[in-house]
Amino acid sequence: MSDDGYRLIRPTKPPRQQASYISYILAMTQKIPVITIDGPSGVGKGTVMLRLAHFLGWHTLDSGAIYRVLALAALKHQIALDDVAGLVKLAAELDVVFQAAPDLSGVQVILEKTDVTSTLRTEATGEAASQVAVIPEVRAALLQRQRDFQQAPGLVADGRDMGTVVFPEAALKIFLTASAEERAKRRYKQLKEKGIDANLTNLVKEISTRDQRDRERATAPLKPAADATQIDTTELSIDAVMAQLMTLVATHLDAVATD
Ligand code: DC
Repeated sequence: MSDDGYRLIRPTKPPRQQASYISYILAMTQKIPVITIDGPSGVGKGTVMLRLAHFLGWHTLDSGAIYRVLALAALKHQIALDDVAGLVKLAAELDVVFQAAPDLSGVQVILEKTDVTSTLRTEATGEAASQVAVIPEVRAALLQRQRDFQQAPGLVADGRDMGTVVFPEAALKIFLTASAEERAKRRYKQLKEKGIDANLTNLVKEISTRDQRDRERATAPLKPAADATQIDTTELSIDAVMAQLMTLVATHLDAVATD
């Protein structure tokens, strides 16, 4: 795949006439579509991404997991979360594999041959990830790793800067929002269901602190792309969000196909 996200299938015998040669090249050049889903923590991006990717038969990118795994690797190797040179080196060499869980229940994350899937999702890891994500050099070091997920037939990517920085040419950009209280409630419910003890007041505080850092950082802050469609999910069930998305997907992908 070329740098700009186009997959070029080389013609075996280029036609002689220039006009037909151009249409021939256009037909042979297939853009791999991307749908971006950005928004703050706990807004339901992950669930929406998985459902959409499953429906379309596309690949997924959980970009937050990449920042989380880098933070975990830093803690493991005792690299401080503000050690720019140490983190950049770690990011360049990060030995991480994302693979389907054996029971196909989701994605397993293997860091340096160890399964870190459960540690990855804790609030503490999210907080550490948000700290390393502030550093522009770290973001730059992780950029290509994220773009490499753009594989045929298509990609659904979730994060904070998918539509603004990583995939600015995405076919469809969604920005999900919900109040911090609602997001904390959802997280509380998830934790309780897993039998993990949680405190709702603390969760609201943690979520608000992380949001503020993600929104106010200088590089690739959490914000909707100018051409993103915003959906406030505070009062919506996941099925209601999916219904809105399916309508958007139908119109936007049709436009991509006939571009
Ligand atoms: O989506 P998440 O909660 O797994 O993300 C963890 C942190 O990683 C988040 O607080 C900020 C950072 N992050 C980022 O800066 N850019 C992204 N595209 C995704 C996550």
